[in-house]
Amino acid sequence: MPSPAGTPDADPVRASAGAPAADRAGGPAGEPLIEVRDLTRVYRRPRTSLTRPGEAVHALKGVSLTVHRGERFGIVGESGSGKSTLLRLLCALDRPTSGSVTFAGREVAGLPERSLRFLRRSLQIVFQDPMSSLDPRMRVRDLVAEPLVALGEPVGDRVAELLDAVGLPASAAERYPHQFSGGQRQRIAIARALAPRPEVLVADEPVSALDVSVRGQILNLLADLADELGLTLVFVSHDLAVVRHLCETVAVVHDGLIVETGPVDDVWEAPGHPYTRALLAAVPTLEGML
Ligand SMILES: Nc1ncnc2c1ncn2[C@@H]1O[C@H](COP(=O)(O)OP(=O)(O)O)[C@@H](O)[C@H]1O
Ligand SMILES: [Mg+2]
Repeated sequence: MPSPAGTPDADPVRASAGAPAADRAGGPAGEPLIEVRDLTRVYRRPRTSLTRPGEAVHALKGVSLTVHRGERFGIVGESGSGKSTLLRLLCALDRPTSGSVTFAGREVAGLPERSLRFLRRSLQIVFQDPMSSLDPRMRVRDLVAEPLVALGEPVGDRVAELLDAVGLPASAAERYPHQFSGGQRQRIAIARALAPRPEVLVADEPVSALDVSVRGQILNLLADLADELGLTLVFVSHDLAVVRHLCETVAVVHDGLIVETGPVDDVWEAPGHPYTRALLAAVPTLEGML
């Protein structure tokens, strides 16, 4: 395995990017890109007694999954099932208690930030609430350019290009996040995520904080961008209908475990696990949203 530190030019992801997604219609596209093996994460609640340690929360209890290059992979489960924990580990924003995460064959779990440059370039994240993920004191121009600046890359015309790609006017660049609606702010967050031309876009409930009336627009924008840019998508939602709209593969998470995984249409038509059936029964329809 090559040393990840300080060798961005030898990045295998960059070297092999450019041929994703072409065969999406035929199912999982390329070779394995993200591999998660036996991942666990135990949190400690703050101690309430001097003599006993805080209570352990087993947020992930041994999760394995594979996301292929060009695939659109959905993770679905109710609140508290461990979805955000799984995403944080997958993006190396947190360390697992045990298990491994590899990206393009390179271990990322538990690595220090300076060794994760290749990952920060190749994988970008959109969070649920753009209000808290965007610094309110920064102009949109600087917010969108920031990931490029952080990677030491030229900004050039990229901000205007990106604003156009997410359906915002060029004049948006000079304004501040609070001057936009929730849906527009999520467009800004998406533009920012796309700035370094990532291969993978990870989204954690990106429409859950938005008005129902604009959710469909943002989902359709994500679908269009994924198509145009050949993105690999890892998309988390509590709503299986939303995952079905956007993804081809789904993993159903329940209480820190994957209880079912496969092509989303198969899981939708014939759910194999009682929990998936319960989720389906609780699914709000997408009617009026798309
Ligand atoms: N930092 C933390 N400290 C303690 N418990 C946590 C922490 N983050 C998450 N949890 C717990 O881990 C479980 C899974 O949380 P999370 O991954 O956020 O689920 P989801 O995103 O599916 O709603 C929940 O029981 C939650 O309360
Ligand atoms: Mg969550």
